[in-house]
Amino acid sequence: MKPVTGFSKLTKIEKIEWLAGQLDGEAAKLVNSLPAYWHPDETVQKRFDEFSENTLTNYNLPFGIAPNFLINGKVYSVPMVIEESSVVAAASLGAKFWLERGGFRTRVLSTTKVGQIHFQWQGNKDKLRAHFTDIRPELLKAVAHLTMNMDGRGGGITDLDLVDMTGQLENYYQIKLQAETCNAMGANFINSVLEELATVFRAGVEADERFEAMEKKVHVIMCILSNYTPDCVVEVSVECPIDDLGGFPGGLSAREFAEKFATAVRIAEIDPNRAVTHNKGIMNGIDAVVIATGNDFRAIEACAHAYAARDGHYRSLSSVDLTGDMFRFSLRVPLAVGTVGGLTSLHPLARTSLAVLENPTAPELMQVMAAVGLAQNFGAVKSLITTGIQKGHMKLHLLNILNQFEANQEEIEKAKTHFSDKVVSFTGARDFLKTIRG
Ligand code: MEV
Repeated sequence: MKPVTGFSKLTKIEKIEWLAGQLDGEAAKLVNSLPAYWHPDETVQKRFDEFSENTLTNYNLPFGIAPNFLINGKVYSVPMVIEESSVVAAASLGAKFWLERGGFRTRVLSTTKVGQIHFQWQGNKDKLRAHFTDIRPELLKAVAHLTMNMDGRGGGITDLDLVDMTGQLENYYQIKLQAETCNAMGANFINSVLEELATVFRAGVEADERFEAMEKKVHVIMCILSNYTPDCVVEVSVECPIDDLGGFPGGLSAREFAEKFATAVRIAEIDPNRAVTHNKGIMNGIDAVVIATGNDFRAIEACAHAYAARDGHYRSLSSVDLTGDMFRFSLRVPLAVGTVGGLTSLHPLARTSLAVLENPTAPELMQVMAAVGLAQNFGAVKSLITTGIQKGHMKLHLLNILNQFEANQEEIEKAKTHFSDKVVSFTGARDFLKTIRG
């Protein structure tokens, strides 16, 4: 590739032509075919293009539905956007299994979001503390024009503190803001408030006569929300008498299943190697709903894993309790999501997802996501401790393998019948196609 200047100024077609011109053969052909993925409606396409920069085309992912999620007595059909086969199937099976056993119980424990002004300042700490206490009401007043709407919706700033971090970094302090952002994820709200607060705070220090000349300089490093939201947490659980769990493949009794399941989850509490994969299974479900509803999956992922390591040891987000004759499986996870703002109303499919969920509030959406995460985790661990993960996974993946070899419908049907009682593998599917193609 050659370096390029002014790429962003080119039209979409010019960008594609430039890129294709840098490549040969198959690669150039692939790039030239990008317009095939444009939306037929130009207005919709324009909107997609404008979500990001230097957009060439759309990247399609399957949008599916996992029905039968009974959550706090209400049934949801949950939209999921994910490319991995068997995730939607596992969520649907998990939802159905628990639909027949009382469903999911969820509870939002807290919804606090956090932002920080990171700054350095040199001087007498007691004076700075006194200044902050005095100026705090003024700081809040100075951002009232930004918080007014959020206040009106029952949210706004819930706390503002000075945090002394000088023990960890010389002259380093924070102003820590806590906020309730109602149905918004709140990133723009918090960042705007922080930047305004920083300006007023800096000016306030400069104007305070109590400070010596050398103490008047606040060196703001940055103002930004924190994606770590350990106080924006939802809990979900399922439970039933162990005997009601039913029978399982391999002649496993309900009691044996429950104990094996609990041991598998315990392993994920002890061993980070297993815990990461275990939690990845939970996030398969959560991310799919996060993406379907136009929320920020990077923020959700970063936070969930930090939360899983909050005691200094990376652990399973879910846990099992087998007290008495009951099987209780639960999950606690931070989910800072929104149902207004951002892509939620701009992306037509995010809007569709929210409409399918009957336009939930952000706390309601947190509960749906957590339920899908738990169902997913239940499905994965259930497969792992009974049939093994590959049996179901490869069966659903068979179509991907056949598509890779451009199998026609007749070949697909033949392959499905052939593999209905066999373990699917890439080479097995390839060899089967070779045989029937002679
Ligand atoms: C695969 O995407 C997810 C699993 O690995 C999760 C797990 O191991 O618990 C199956």
